[in-house]
Amino acid sequence: MTESIKYRLKFYLNFVQVFCDLFRQVLYDWSRFRKFSSYAISIFYLKSNGRVKTSYQLLALIQADAHKVEKALAITKPRPGFGVAVVKRLIANVEEYYQRFGFNSRLDIAYCVMQKYVDFNVKNDSLDKDLENLLEDLGNTVFEFKNSKNEAAGVIHYTKEEYLFKTKMDLEDFFMGRYSMRQFSEQALNLKDLQKAIYLASKTPSVCNRQCYHAFIAQGKEKASSVLSYQLGNRGFGDQVDSVITVTADLSCFFSSSERNQAWIDGGLYAMSVIYALHSLGIASCPLNWSVNPKRDLALKNASGIPHSHSIIMMIACGNLKDEFSVAQSKRKPMDELCTIMDKPLSQCGL
Ligand SMILES: Cc1cc2nc3c(=O)[nH]c(=O)nc-3n(C[C@H](O)[C@H](O)[C@H](O)COP(=O)(O)O)c2cc1C
Repeated sequence: MTESIKYRLKFYLNFVQVFCDLFRQVLYDWSRFRKFSSYAISIFYLKSNGRVKTSYQLLALIQADAHKVEKALAITKPRPGFGVAVVKRLIANVEEYYQRFGFNSRLDIAYCVMQKYVDFNVKNDSLDKDLENLLEDLGNTVFEFKNSKNEAAGVIHYTKEEYLFKTKMDLEDFFMGRYSMRQFSEQALNLKDLQKAIYLASKTPSVCNRQCYHAFIAQGKEKASSVLSYQLGNRGFGDQVDSVITVTADLSCFFSSSERNQAWIDGGLYAMSVIYALHSLGIASCPLNWSVNPKRDLALKNASGIPHSHSIIMMIACGNLKDEFSVAQSKRKPMDELCTIMDKPLSQCGL
């Protein structure tokens, strides 16, 4: 066989292998979404009726509907009598959750939203009688609602001044002064500080406020390096990392095929918030990719106990700052490459 035929053969074999890898990995993503989301519930208009499999899936439906009502109350002119079908579905899903899985604080949020909905409609003389009865029954069924303080949800009223007051700080230095750190001091991090960062990051927006994200904290060098042994981008500095936060997003929070990529979006936003929160607390961090094949993904999940319904978004290596250190500049693109200004309105969407 001549050299050129050998070369060509190798090229085509590589091509087939790369193509098969892509296919296998897409199949992996597809089968995970099919298995862990409740995408088929959309056929039943998001009413579980015993159909969804896990408590997380049912909570996601509840959270989404509660949010729908809560945000409708926050627009300039809510329509009296809006959302009767949604609230009835919410009542049914909350009741089912309570019967199947017991109480959860997010049921209280949903109940509280519904109370605010009732207040609004009573004020506007537009409350659906049937709905009122169903809600009363729910209040009698769920014992914990009797102690509800009725303040876990609803709208918050602000003046422009009050709102702007909280933004009055120069954040340019904060944003521009963050770097991915690949040198850390020997001084150990405090778990409380890591948890504070997780708390701050919980203000990250997420679709319908479903909060699919989660953080798995490996605190201390021993645990951190065991987690990092699964990750492929920490060579040369992994041994200095004090703690690792593995950011995940739970596919159980999604119930429509059009949400198949939402975990990456909500999880990615959350990860960025964690990084900024760490930065605000003076903790150095480096995001670490989880662009891995299914075998490695499963290996980490099996070893760590990260549930299989979670998608791993990335890891965040954390540590204290050294007294002196260097960082990569990582220059950004110029403004004209960063954004495009749309020059005219679009024709109205006709779909
Ligand atoms: C999702 C993601 C994965 C990353 N993975 C790695 C990694 O595996 N190893 C690493 O050294 N840096 C990693 N980085 C850091 C990037 O190289 C860095 O964010 C980029 O160069 C910009 O630099 P800056 O963060 O200092 O502004 C990752 C960043 C992101 C957002």
